[in-house]
Amino acid sequence: MTDLILDRERMPLHVAVIMDGNGRWAKKKGLPRLAGHNAGMKAMKKIVDHSDKLGIKYLTVYAFSTENWKRSLAEVTGIFKLLVTYVNSDLKELVENNVRVKVLGDYSSLPADAVRSLERTLKETENNTGLQFNIALNYGGRDEIRRAVEAIGEKIRRGDMEPGDVTEEAIGEELFTGRLHDGFSPDPELIIRTSGEMRLSNFLLWQGAYSELVFSDVLWPDFTPEEYERAIAEYQSRDRRFGGR
Ligand code: IPE
Ligand code: IPE
Ligand code: MG
Repeated sequence: MTDLILDRERMPLHVAVIMDGNGRWAKKKGLPRLAGHNAGMKAMKKIVDHSDKLGIKYLTVYAFSTENWKRSLAEVTGIFKLLVTYVNSDLKELVENNVRVKVLGDYSSLPADAVRSLERTLKETENNTGLQFNIALNYGGRDEIRRAVEAIGEKIRRGDMEPGDVTEEAIGEELFTGRLHDGFSPDPELIIRTSGEMRLSNFLLWQGAYSELVFSDVLWPDFTPEEYERAIAEYQSRDRRFGGR
């Protein structure tokens, strides 16, 4: 492992990853897209383990977007089946490794067996105190902000809040990553996207306001702990100014 190049004093607290390129990975190998998603799950598992080893406190992965429903039924149901397999087969290990799993997004519209597996995982890991592993599922940044606006509108309607109370903090609290929610996490210092695409695709639009973006050309199933460390090293080389001079 190349982790000697990392500055342990400057590790990001929260890393978010857009796991992209499963389809292209499969195509390159002449395999069905689902084989790519399966390989992607394996890559994800290694990154979860490695985040814990690096002392990262929060890892958020973009697993399924609100726009991914546009894909074929076979691909969508296949992705959720793989997810069920992953959480069921890894639950024991996640518990042993003290990982706390959270979901960002409204997962209630997923297939019933996926909802069941996720709920079991959330419940069995809820008291763990190690890495918080957020899985963004049926997640969209705009959907998340829309829900926050609706919740705030409802509070104002009930008279529990004044329009003047709508601060950035108040909006942040209503997001899936907000203090009022189960997935509470600080804003990610670093967002990594694989597969060479350079866009956010509706990921963490609010929370990513000042995140450093690192793009890797590697397709997600080929993304290794070494690549991950390279991305973190790139983050550590950046000069974060937050609008200051
Ligand atoms: C990312 O890989 C996984 C999901 C979006 C679920 P893709 O399936 O988007 O792979 P490409 O972009 O088609 O290669
Ligand atoms: C973003 O990837 C969503 C996930 C990785 C889950 P997409 O492959 O859906 O994004 P676009 O369509 O290339 O923007
Ligand atoms: Mg893609």
